[in-house]
Parts: sequence; C-alpha cells; structure tokens
Amino acid sequence: RIIEWDLEAAEKSGYEHFMLKEIHEQPKSLKDVLSGRINELTGDVELPEIKLTQEQINDIRRIVIVACGTSYHAGLAGKYVLEMLTDVPVSVEIGSEFRYSSSRTDHHTLIIALSQSGETADTAASVKDAVKKGAYVIAVTNTVGSTIARESQSTIYMRCGPEIGVAATKTFTSQLAVMYLLSIYLGRRRNTLNAYNAMKLLSDLKNLPRDAQAVLDQSEAIASYAKIFSRANLFLFVGRHLNYPVALEGALKLKEISYIFSEGFAAGELKHGPLALLTTGVPVIAITTKSPTYEKMISNIKEIKARDASVIAIASEGDEAISQLVDVVIRVPDVGEIVSPILSSIVLQLFAYHVAVCTGCPIDKPRNLAKSVTVE
Ligand code: G6P
Repeated sequence: RIIEWDLEAAEKSGYEHFMLKEIHEQPKSLKDVLSGRINELTGDVELPEIKLTQEQINDIRRIVIVACGTSYHAGLAGKYVLEMLTDVPVSVEIGSEFRYSSSRTDHHTLIIALSQSGETADTAASVKDAVKKGAYVIAVTNTVGSTIARESQSTIYMRCGPEIGVAATKTFTSQLAVMYLLSIYLGRRRNTLNAYNAMKLLSDLKNLPRDAQAVLDQSEAIASYAKIFSRANLFLFVGRHLNYPVALEGALKLKEISYIFSEGFAAGELKHGPLALLTTGVPVIAITTKSPTYEKMISNIKEIKARDASVIAIASEGDEAISQLVDVVIRVPDVGEIVSPILSSIVLQLFAYHVAVCTGCPIDKPRNLAKSVTVE
C-alpha cells in the first residue's frame, strides 16, 4: 500500500491532484494537438487521417455531432464554429438521445463523434447505428484503438496523454482545438473560408500554448477568488454564442467536483427563468470576452447586478470598462472570439478546482461518477 501511494504521488509530479496536474499540462497538450496540423503558408489544415474524398466533402448536406458530458459541450462550441466557417447545417446530439431519435441519417450526413475515452456506450452505439445507415463518421478521441475509433471511418487523435482525473480538463480544450481545425479543414475544402481568413485563425491557434500559460500564471489570484465564493450553495454561469458552451462546461466542472449546485445558461435566457434564482450575493460567472455579443453581455450583467447578485467576469485583457460593473474580473489574453473559449475554460477549471479544495471534496474521484461510462 505504501508503494502504491508513492507511485501515485510520483505520477502527480508534485501536484496535489491529477486534475491540477492535467490543468497545468494544457500548454503542452495544446501544442501537441496542433503539431504538424497547421500550414500557415497555405492557410490550411493538414489532417491526412480524414479519408473523405473531395466529392464526399461536396456531398455533405448536414453534420451531426454526437457526444456525452464534457465532450457534448465541446460539440456545442464546434457547432458554432462549423456553421461560421462552412455552409453546412450542424446539430449537436447527446449520445443517449441520438440513438433513439428518428433522425434521417444517410450518406449525405457527416457524423462527428467526440469521446475522450472512445468507450462511452451511448456515443459508441450512435456511431454503430449511423455507420449502418450509410453516414460517414469521424471520431475525435484521445484513446488509440478504442471502440469508437475502430467503428469510425476516420479518427482524429487528441494526443493529450492519459487523463486520470474524472473531471475532463485537458481533453476538453484539445477537443475544442480539434473542432476548430476540422472546421477550417472543411471550410477550405468547401470554399467557404478563404486562405487569408484561415491564416488569421491559424495564427491565433498557434499562439494557444503561450496564451494558456498566461492564464495558468494567474492561478493564485483565481484560487483566492474561489476561496471567497466557496461557501455559496448555488452558482450560475452565463455566456452567449461560443461562450454559452463555456458556461455550461464551467458549471459542469464545478458541480462534478465541489458538489455545489451550479448551472450554465445562455445569457439571453436569464429573463425566462433563471433571474428568479438571483438574490443578494449569489455568484454569477459571466464569460464576457471580446465578441460580437459583448454589448449584449454587458446588458445582462447590469440585469444581474440590479438583483444584487455578485458577478465574476472573465474578460479580455485591455477591457477596463468592465471593472466598474462587476465584483471580480479575471483576465484572459485578448485573442479572437473563436479561440478565447479555450482560455476562458482554463480559468473555469482552475476556479472549480480551488472551490473543491475549499469544500474538501475528493477531487480526482468525485462520488458517483466514473471516468468512462461503458453502460447504456
Ligand atoms: C463521463 C466522464 C465525463 C465525460 C463523459 C463522456 O461522464 O465523467 O468527464 O465527459 O463521461 O466521456 P467521453 O470519454 O465520451 O468523452
């Protein structure tokens, strides 16, 4: 038993938990997932693992992203980007729902199956079913030779190395990176994204390891904010557009490991229900990085403050105005709106982690949860 403990301690490389180690590995995991896949000269993405012919790409009439849990949130973000960069309608389906839906899946359908483990039963069953119906399936997974990788026609590996903490962290940000690469790849081949615009996106992606490190460098400040709010019994997370899935994932992370009730909402939906939950001091985390919906987010923050709730904003470097409106500001580097969700997510992972440290929860193995759910 003593030997086991020592081995585990060694594997954590000095970090108190695997989750914290994995959060800090993100500059490297992001570098690895992008490595060799970006061609800045041509403004293109190299994904030789995708075996689709140009004719098959032209033939795609709809894209369905299938996933569960954290991977589903990466899928939601992927939908926004795919729809921005290609001309194909995209839907995102929860594995356990898609398999029982009457969806018209056929050879004009591209399925993207997102699964860190590659073993989630509901996602795997959806893949099997879609292949049977003639769809083309691209798997995005971290696990070589996994069931979902084997059942799919093409597989893009996330190259994150093992993730031990039950709460997904580095695999989530790599899934986002793959979804962005794939969106650029398809946009270039369907002629809906020109080389110039692609180059801008690719250069933002290329800087991600450095920008992720800049977020990690604020770890102590984030820990101190987490401590201040750790006694709350309810947290709301809000965002719009691409930051909406970031809000959902931030809430999932927090509830998984701290057992505090937390929920994410599209900020525009606040007035349709969630505002009723707001009373003095309820913490609301608002993802308010620079984007076309920034002004709308500011209006939402004013609505929240009018109920005397506390707002913790995640904002872009250089946005000074926001400090006057909210209780706490956590900064992320000022990058394009497509890439910023990766950086905001790292903030929220650190926040959830440090709240869970304060509540004394078993961070790497939350009660009732498993790393990989292989039952339906
Ligand atoms: C479990 C894990 C989650 C994960 C989900 C989907 O619930 O606890 O962290 O997001 O399964 O897993 P997958 O391996 O398919 O991404």
